[in-house]
Amino acid sequence: MCNTVAAQAACSKDQHITWQEGAVRREAKERALQQRGCVVWFTGLSGSGKSTVACTLEHALFNRGALTTLLDGDNVRHGLNCNLGFCEEDRAENIRRVGEVTKLFVDTGIIALASFISPYKRDRDRVRARLGPRDFIEVYLKVPLEVCEARDAKGLYKLARAGKIKGFTGIDDPYEAPEDPEITLEATDASDRPVCPETMARTILNYLESHGYVTAAMANNAVKGPARAIADWTDRKMPVLDYSI
Ligand SMILES: Nc1ncnc2c1ncn2[C@@H]1O[C@H](COP(=O)(O)OP(=O)(O)O)[C@@H](O)[C@H]1O
Ligand SMILES: [Mg+2]
Repeated sequence: MCNTVAAQAACSKDQHITWQEGAVRREAKERALQQRGCVVWFTGLSGSGKSTVACTLEHALFNRGALTTLLDGDNVRHGLNCNLGFCEEDRAENIRRVGEVTKLFVDTGIIALASFISPYKRDRDRVRARLGPRDFIEVYLKVPLEVCEARDAKGLYKLARAGKIKGFTGIDDPYEAPEDPEITLEATDASDRPVCPETMARTILNYLESHGYVTAAMANNAVKGPARAIADWTDRKMPVLDYSI
């Protein structure tokens, strides 16, 4: 059953509420952290690799001395959004709340990694508009349904196909692909070879470095390169991830 919290949670129009400016500006926090706050927003079907790539990226950023936070769809639904279901309205409210939380982190200079199916373009674009152009980096896990379904890490596709889960994205609920994401990650490369999560995380890291979110100097803190993890990536096997790239 669908909640109606979206309506209840509509932003207060009370005239007696005024914005309290903090004494420490975002820029000062970013200078202290030597990074620029942003949200890296992972969107894609269930099983496309959002959580895996986000975890890998977070570990890589941590190794560089960056301060990050990880917001994951399933985790957030255990707490902050435990009163929301999966109807369109609740999905919208889920993304709205997460967008607000990421904004709090970004305004503190922190790099927030958010992995949410976020199937509706409108909901994602609302977060983009709320965060502002340089603060929202959309990463589209463009992995075909057949691949996600074959992985079926949580057995959810099987249940959805059997009609035991209703409103499952990609099966009986829509997924609206981003039209102009900052980064698109595909399951296979131009030679049809599988792309491992470490390579995907590296692509995002390169973007963050080249766009000034993290500094090149931080890279000196890196403890390992991607070569070893990629070398493990043979025969389409998942390597045992230690989340270092
Ligand atoms: N690049 C990849 N190549 C192959 N398998 C992957 C890749 N990324 C993730 N996986 C695997 O796919 C499954 C689903 O990944 P997960 O990160 O949980 O997806 P999501 O968070 O999008 O639902 C997991 O078993 C994971 O190990
Ligand atoms: Mg996930």
